Amino acid sequence: MEKNIATFEEYKKEYDKSVTNPEVFWEEKARNFIWRRKWDNILSWDFTKAEIKWFEGGKLNITENCLDRHLEKIGNQTAIKWIANNPSEKSKSISYKELHLEVCKFSNVLKNNGAKKGDRICIYMPMVPELAIAVLACARIGAIHSVVFAGFSAKSLSDRINDASCTILITADGSFRGEKVIPLKNISDEAMDSTPSVKRCIVLERTKSKINMQKIRDVWWHNEMKKADEDCSIEMMNSEDPLFILYTSGSTGKPKGIQHSIAGYMIYTEFSFRNVFQYSEGDIYWCTADIGWITGHSYILYGPLLSGATTMMFEGVPSYPDSGRFWKIIEDNNVNIFYTAPTAIRALEAKGMEFVKPYDLSSLKVLGTVGEPINEDAWHWYNKEIGNRNAPIVDTWWQTETGGIMISNLAGVTPGKPTFATLPLPGIQPCLVDEQGNEIKGNSVKGRLCIKYPWPAMARSIYGNHERFKNTYFNAFKNKYFTGDGCLRDENGMYRITGRVDDVLIVSGHNLGTAEIESAIDQHKNVCETAIVGYPHPIKGNGIYAYVICHKKPKNKDALRIEINELLTKEVGPIAKADKILFVSCLPKTRSGKIMRRILRKIAEGETENLGDTSTLLDPAIVEEIKKLVQ
Ligand code: WT7
Repeated sequence: MEKNIATFEEYKKEYDKSVTNPEVFWEEKARNFIWRRKWDNILSWDFTKAEIKWFEGGKLNITENCLDRHLEKIGNQTAIKWIANNPSEKSKSISYKELHLEVCKFSNVLKNNGAKKGDRICIYMPMVPELAIAVLACARIGAIHSVVFAGFSAKSLSDRINDASCTILITADGSFRGEKVIPLKNISDEAMDSTPSVKRCIVLERTKSKINMQKIRDVWWHNEMKKADEDCSIEMMNSEDPLFILYTSGSTGKPKGIQHSIAGYMIYTEFSFRNVFQYSEGDIYWCTADIGWITGHSYILYGPLLSGATTMMFEGVPSYPDSGRFWKIIEDNNVNIFYTAPTAIRALEAKGMEFVKPYDLSSLKVLGTVGEPINEDAWHWYNKEIGNRNAPIVDTWWQTETGGIMISNLAGVTPGKPTFATLPLPGIQPCLVDEQGNEIKGNSVKGRLCIKYPWPAMARSIYGNHERFKNTYFNAFKNKYFTGDGCLRDENGMYRITGRVDDVLIVSGHNLGTAEIESAIDQHKNVCETAIVGYPHPIKGNGIYAYVICHKKPKNKDALRIEINELLTKEVGPIAKADKILFVSCLPKTRSGKIMRRILRKIAEGETENLGDTSTLLDPAIVEEIKKLVQ
């Protein structure tokens, strides 16, 4: 394994090298892996066509690098330490050897069930070790995994399955989350009513809930595993073959299947994992995300396993059986590196110190946050009460599309600053641009955050819609990848992400499209039009504020609010519930018919006086009406 960057001077040297000669820089990193054939060409790219290729000509398999190559040296070390939802259920430690064996067996299960290289396989599972096994088995046989977060509804699941024409769905009978059991197989059944491409559904037994198994289509995980061979050689893959698809929200209703390819993603997740968290051999690392999001893909599975780390996986929720659960898990397992989201930090802070005090958190060396800007107050609480002012906090800015952490301090090596993601990782060239796309140079400036040079883990396409990929990320500003985030650079060149500048809302660290939520609400028979905006929420970061126009004046507004939220739960998932719903008779629109969200946002934030320029509104009286309704 390569050495981590150890000092600020070394970081600056590496950064300079990575910018002056990116290809030499990344080629050095690539040499740390097992390749079955060496690459011919390090990088070719053309942002105007949204074409990026790294290490073309190379052949490899990412699971050989995650598993096989560790067997000799650390085969008996724990690869995955799993903690059950219910504290009375025993945790599980799975060594690299055992994980390798299970992945090989499940790879054969997939093959026995008709899976081939290039097939898309949907995974809709609880946070159990079998989820990790399923993901890695797909990668081993060259199938493209599409993990769908197990909190999504049947409709969201079937949309995602259909978008990629998945042939296999891997799920479980149910999932434990706190006190609740989520009926994953029933939800899957409902989804599979409208997914003709799915030929097989592999079902893991987890909750022992009563479920229906459809003959031929549905098979049990444990039965298939019994029949499966223990040996499975790797499928030889090209560097640029897709590794996975992961859906994220966009500014239209249809989610985007962000597509990542194998080699670049592998090199970058390993490099960023080790350096940002300053992972060293033997560390116990815990990221609380769900594998259904990119954080789980890159920093529960691939990054840590590629680095030979012990990665923890937690099935439950932070509030069960009480709000001390995270801290108890840290004490019980001597966690050294802990990575979570600002929304969780704020929620746990609000519960009070009596849930933190009982636990010994002295094993913690590094703390991390991801998903949204962390506010100053939560940062200080995390630093003082959890880290005992002794564990550097890495504030990691990145996106589903970037594949790995882009802007972050390196724990204890480069300086941190509350609410700032700070400096770019080596190989990352951020820049700020104004609305016309002119680069804003110098320090103490604000603008839209772009990246001007390719990095290995960047997304390669939107599944089945390369045109949309090009338009969303590469058309806004010439020769730049546009992140959709607003950003400032302080007097020392440190970056602070200020939030989205487009129609994407970050709610509890989850990316939700306003259009997706609006079109779900619009399906209610009494709803004629909806506009969604975010507003500051003490725990979730952003709350969802819905302005709804009804066909008929609602008789019982609260009952309608409940119906709308039920609809959102069904169509998008419980994470999309609206916090506030205001019934209005009209929405403020420009002469060209565009909703002026800027005004709705201000009103949602409680501002009624300084609404800015309203002169381009078709009918300014509407604003007065809405203002009255909220007063
Ligand atoms: C958006 C990407 C990357 C994994 C989780 C979310 C926001 C993410 C930070 C941070 C400020 C952040 C951005 C970004 N975001 N991390 N450290 N500071 N904002 O992935 O769902 O693709 O969302 O999350 O707005 O664009 P995602």
